[in-house]
Amino acid sequence: MKPSALPAELSDTARAYAVGPHDHLIAGERRGPAAGRTFTTLDPSSGLPIAEVAHGGAEDVDRAVGAARFALEGEWGAMTAPARAARIHRLADLVEEHADELAELEALDNGKPVGLARVIDVRLTVEHLRYFAGWPTKITGQTIPVATPGMHVYTRREPVGVCAQIVPWNFPLLMAAWKVAPALAAGCTVVLKPAEQTPLTALRLGDLAVEAGFPDGTLNVVTGEGDTGALLVEHPGVDKIAFTGSTAVGREIGGKAGRALKRVTLELGGKSPNIVLPDADLDAAIGGSFQAIYYNTGQVCSAGSRLYVHRDQFDEVVSALAQAAGAARVGRGLAQGTQLGPVVSAEQRERVRGYIESGKSEGAELVAGGGVDGGGDGGYFIEPTLFTATSDELTIAREEIFGPVLVALPYGDLEEVARRANDTEYGLAAGVWTRDVGAAHRLAGMLRAGSVYVNAWGMSDAAAPFGGFKASGIGREHGAAGLDAYLEDKTVWVNTG
Ligand code: NAI
Ligand code: MG
Repeated sequence: MKPSALPAELSDTARAYAVGPHDHLIAGERRGPAAGRTFTTLDPSSGLPIAEVAHGGAEDVDRAVGAARFALEGEWGAMTAPARAARIHRLADLVEEHADELAELEALDNGKPVGLARVIDVRLTVEHLRYFAGWPTKITGQTIPVATPGMHVYTRREPVGVCAQIVPWNFPLLMAAWKVAPALAAGCTVVLKPAEQTPLTALRLGDLAVEAGFPDGTLNVVTGEGDTGALLVEHPGVDKIAFTGSTAVGREIGGKAGRALKRVTLELGGKSPNIVLPDADLDAAIGGSFQAIYYNTGQVCSAGSRLYVHRDQFDEVVSALAQAAGAARVGRGLAQGTQLGPVVSAEQRERVRGYIESGKSEGAELVAGGGVDGGGDGGYFIEPTLFTATSDELTIAREEIFGPVLVALPYGDLEEVARRANDTEYGLAAGVWTRDVGAAHRLAGMLRAGSVYVNAWGMSDAAAPFGGFKASGIGREHGAAGLDAYLEDKTVWVNTG
């Protein structure tokens, strides 16, 4: 493949990395796929190939899990807490040093605007690593005052073991950091599998971990498709599985983990309600609601994809949003001034196209966008799209679209909107726009969602727990709760005689 197929804006450093080779990272070394199989990662802004990437088969997965076990029982497992913390800090520093390159690779492989990749994805990755680098020295057990005389009882918090971490394509580097950072802080070892659409930055992160001085095998990266992920989930050497992705695959992984009694955390889909109360600052609500759905071209698990606006403000809010959607600049991730990049793949474009068609055929009114085409140059572009509807039963009001498609629905009173907001299998996020402090807290209590945003949307911080109620997942990431998922409690009874 000719490097000239890559976009002209790409720096020499990012270009040199992007062309490959992209082998697995196992036991501190890049290794080609044992079975010789590869897959192609594409540039969603053009539809053109970027490079061939190793496809992980049974032998690769087995080697990676073996390397992770070796590190756990060897050098990494024996390392002191401050030494572990120092490695994670060093990795954060290296990510920061390579921030521009990583942002370019993310924009290339995923299609997102490079400026946003830099200030959101890469910056939050650094913050996440730094936050969890603070934890190793603060993981402590307890002494327990038991009833039996002469017993000294204490708990130890030990790493759960070898972790299989499977991440999606919407925030490839950041999702990897969300998984890897708490695992390393807890003293676990990792086999990370990035999404087949976006493997580049996870592999680069793996290289930086080697440079940061993690012992060989502490962090392994095996690339591949869904079948590679399944091999990892099923491998008997894996103690814990952490997955972010579709609810369908999450259910399958949860079932397998249940049968094997492996530890599991799942961060899945959503159909998050965003509620504008009648007394809201409408400008703030409109701007926030725009970002809630169109940021990252709608490819966000916590996207505010159902907008409930009081019927008295409905027309005003909808027309302002339609105008903003019409004015948004859709373009290539590496082009200057792009607000919305393409969606990640032709498959995702077709999925979103299907939902836009279903909105039209089920009677929703299309008030902005709706255009789905190649943008003239093969990229997977979709116009920011806004529907209005009166029924929550439409497919576009019930199913996760994972694209730039919003459905706005009018409501009458607070109890009604809370009930309708909760009438979903999902429970990842919810939002409330209001100046009424009492109503804000009342709704925050009523909404069945893992995160509730008041006069904001999509806030994220390494210290603040994130995860889903109901079909949106199991467990929490970030903060102390995120760390807990990587620790086992051990109780030690000592007869002091
Ligand atoms: P997916 O769930 O198939 O892929 C996510 C990750 O899981 C990838 O790394 C993939 O290789 C891996 N995977 C796929 N099948 C697997 C299996 N059987 N066992 C183990 N690992 C497996 O998601 P996909 O197909 O890319 O997107 C489909 C839909 O999923 C999207 O339209 C969106 O609705 C949802 N999604 C949600 C995300 C979230 O952040 N919650 C992220 C990505 C997708
Ligand atoms: Mg790609």
